[in-house]
Formats: sequence, structure tokens, C-alpha cells
Amino acid sequence: MAQFQIAVVVGSLRRDSFNRKLADGLIRLAPADFSFKHLQIGDLPLYNQDDDANQAAPVKRLKSEISASQGLLFVTPEYNRSMPGVLKNALDNASRPYGQNAWAGKPAGVIGASVGPVGTALAQQHLRNVLAYLDVPTLGQPEAFIHAKEGLFDEAGNIGAASKQFLQGWMDKYVAWVKRHAG
Ligand SMILES: Cc1cc2nc3c(=O)[nH]c(=O)nc-3n(C[C@H](O)[C@H](O)[C@H](O)COP(=O)(O)O)c2cc1C
Repeated sequence: MAQFQIAVVVGSLRRDSFNRKLADGLIRLAPADFSFKHLQIGDLPLYNQDDDANQAAPVKRLKSEISASQGLLFVTPEYNRSMPGVLKNALDNASRPYGQNAWAGKPAGVIGASVGPVGTALAQQHLRNVLAYLDVPTLGQPEAFIHAKEGLFDEAGNIGAASKQFLQGWMDKYVAWVKRHAG
């Protein structure tokens, strides 16, 4: 029985997203006492402060799924040297109304894949800035800027041989981080 429920936020809405595949491959490297739920962010309204007193149903759903989790896993592409707008929109929506920030205190891992060889370093750094303000403790090491290239995944969707050891090490550190910080 899973003791630690992790809310997974993928910063891409693309059907064949490398980052969603990376999230799913990572999940397979986690121990049995961890379970993972992908949070839907594509149906959130664009954040509007006028709606704070009457948040839309997808925002309420997002906030309650975050609240029910013991940790967060952000897996994001880089768009124009930052995080995608859909991800920032999700962060903003669940951070409000003022004083009711659903993200606060949830330990998080940040990772991402890009077709560019140094990709997601800047997106991850921008994301970490926002998470710091939102009072989310983030795993600092190891950093993981994953190059989405041939062989990253095998045909069954597992992490491919060349990256498996590194990403297993990343997952092991993430698991220890969540256990250290979760309630
Ligand atoms: C609007 C846009 C901006 C992008 N900007 C960057 C970038 O700044 N750095 C980078 O490495 N890749 C960039 N890319 C390429 C992405 O790495 C690539 O599209 C990747 O597959 C997106 O992740 P996904 O497969 O999970 O959707 C950009 C792609 C798009 C669509």
C-alpha cells in the first residue's frame, strides 16, 4: 500500500510529449510505497484575480489533489528559455486566493527533457525561483537536464539503458527528499 502520494505536473500538453514519457518512465523507478497521480492542467482557466472568491471547478480540483499529496514532481520542457505558460498558469491558479496557497510545504523534484542539449536548465531555474516564493522545498541535487534523443526510452516506455542508472539515482534521492520533508 502506497504511503506517499505524489502529484505529478507535466509542463507540456503535447500528445507525444517527451516530458510526459519521462514522468512515466521515472514513476516506474519509484519504490512500492510511492504512488503517482498526473494533475490535469490543460483545462484550467487563465488565472484572473477577479475569480479568487469563486474559483472554477478545475482549479478547485487541482488544489484538492495537491492538498491530498505528500510531494510534487515537476517534469517540464523549456519554452523560449523559461517554463511553459501552462505550467506558470497552474502555479498561479493553485497559489490563490492570498493565504490559501495549495503548494506550500510540499517537497518537490524538478526535472525536464528537451531536444536541445542544454535544454530545460533555464526553465528549471525559473521554476525553482517561483517554487521558492511559493514555499516549496525543492531537491537541489542531482540536477537533471535530460536530452530527449534516440534511446532515452525503450520500446516499452522504460528509461533506456544509457540514462537508467543516472535517473534511478535521481529517483532514489527524490524519494529520500520526500520522506524527509513530508508531514
Ligand atoms: C514554443 C516553444 C519554445 C521552445 N523553446 C525551447 C527552448 O527555449 N529551449 C529548448 O531546449 N527547447 C525549446 N523548444 C523545443 C522543446 O524542447 C521541444 O519542443 C520539446 O519536445 C518540448 O517538450 P515536450 O516533448 O514534452 O512537449 C521549444 C519548443 C516550443 C514549442
